[in-house]
Amino acid sequence: MKTDTYISHMIVTVSRKAHFNAAHRLYNNEWSGDRNEDVFGKCANPNFHGHNYELIVSVTGEINLQTGFVMDMKRLKELIKEKIEDEFDHKNLNIQVPEFKELNPTSENISVVIWKRLRPYIPEKLKLKITLYETPRNFVVYNGG
Ligand code: NI
Repeated sequence: MKTDTYISHMIVTVSRKAHFNAAHRLYNNEWSGDRNEDVFGKCANPNFHGHNYELIVSVTGEINLQTGFVMDMKRLKELIKEKIEDEFDHKNLNIQVPEFKELNPTSENISVVIWKRLRPYIPEKLKLKITLYETPRNFVVYNGG
């Protein structure tokens, strides 16, 4: 193909947006109720509260010369649905998602859990980055470091 030299070794990032609603509570078992309230504020409420999480999954790598893709977006869409949305959407993260039985479901920790869940299914030569919005203005980024 004529385009081979033109696009060879071009590193491109492709991203897929997704969404889930979930409830959580932030607290540290080893602390008193007062200290939890000092640190986590309303997020320590024992009755939980919800967020509309916006997720952006980004995959970076070379454009495949045969397909012109970095990664098949249909496959990425299915992976996010199966490994994240089906498991997190309309769930209580503390109670229903096994990783958060012992781990505080902060945005930071949720982004790491999402990265770890997806990483085994993304081709090894591609880099994976998770961007997670807990509110329209607060977001975290994890890229596996
Ligand atoms: Ni919260």
